[in-house]
Amino acid sequence: MLDQIARIADAGAAEVAAAATLDELRAFETRLLGKKSELNDLKAKLGGLQPDERRTVGLAFNDARARLEGAVESRRAALATAHRAARLDAERLDLTEVVAGRRLGHLHLVTQALERLEDVFVGLGFTVAEGPEVETDWRNFGALNFPPGHPARDMYDTLYVDYGEPGATLLRTHTSPVQVRVMTSQPPPIYSVMPGRVFRQDTADATHLPVFHQIEGLVIDRDITFAHLAGTIDAFTKAFFGGGFASRLRPSYFPFTEPSAEFDIIRPDGTFLELGGCGMVHPNVLANCGLDPEEWQGFAFGFGIDRLAITRFGVDDMRDLITNDVRFLRQF
Ligand code: PHE
Repeated sequence: MLDQIARIADAGAAEVAAAATLDELRAFETRLLGKKSELNDLKAKLGGLQPDERRTVGLAFNDARARLEGAVESRRAALATAHRAARLDAERLDLTEVVAGRRLGHLHLVTQALERLEDVFVGLGFTVAEGPEVETDWRNFGALNFPPGHPARDMYDTLYVDYGEPGATLLRTHTSPVQVRVMTSQPPPIYSVMPGRVFRQDTADATHLPVFHQIEGLVIDRDITFAHLAGTIDAFTKAFFGGGFASRLRPSYFPFTEPSAEFDIIRPDGTFLELGGCGMVHPNVLANCGLDPEEWQGFAFGFGIDRLAITRFGVDDMRDLITNDVRFLRQF
């Protein structure tokens, strides 16, 4: 009988260790340790043995049971761990993974417009430059020919940063300070565009956001004239919007350009889209950036990207751009 018990325990433990699933393990457990198990049948015969023989067999019987129970427990723990790992793996949401042929996400509407603008300007021979969002009053205004207290500063509802002298540090109100960075960090000729995020103290409504995007253009070379500016704006218009579109300039004022203009896009149906400002770089700006205005001339332009992006898709509320509602974003 001892042999028989040992055989049941050995075979049972091997079976349990090989159980492939929790269900299979549960079935083995019932068969090996349940009421109708082989061990239970043997136990019923214990009563027919001599007392000392009964003790030895009883101990072997308990050992076999304990061994099988231990095997079931350790197998159950191993299977539960594996089951949990498999489930976590199956339920994993990897938001960064790009699965071939399956679209999991895409660039924001404004980022798409920004990248396309960069592509068009790079195609026209421009390089791309960037600057920081926190700027000095000097680069955002001073070097651009806005002396302290100049009334044109009121065109920009400036957000100041509590850093350094009061009023010395701000969130850039336009991308024009990057012109100053480019002119003071490399010698001409310069043919650059400068995209980026800009900030104005403003309440968000359907047509304004306090945080928006602009792209700036700057050309500095010898013998640059207003005709180069008008031609560049027109070449850009046709490359970005299409051959049926044209551009026009209207006189305007900016402290950092002279003469200055606003530029509009003329749609094929004859309607206008007011896009941005431009002009010939003011001699004071060139001098502030260490360039001799007698030797170098240039032009600059700048316009908002967010409004351009929504116009293209017929979105009528700019706030939709920043609410992060996937039902909106998914459409573009
Ligand atoms: N920085 C001006 C603005 O934000 C636009 C501009 C850029 C005008 C370059 C002229 C030249 O209003």
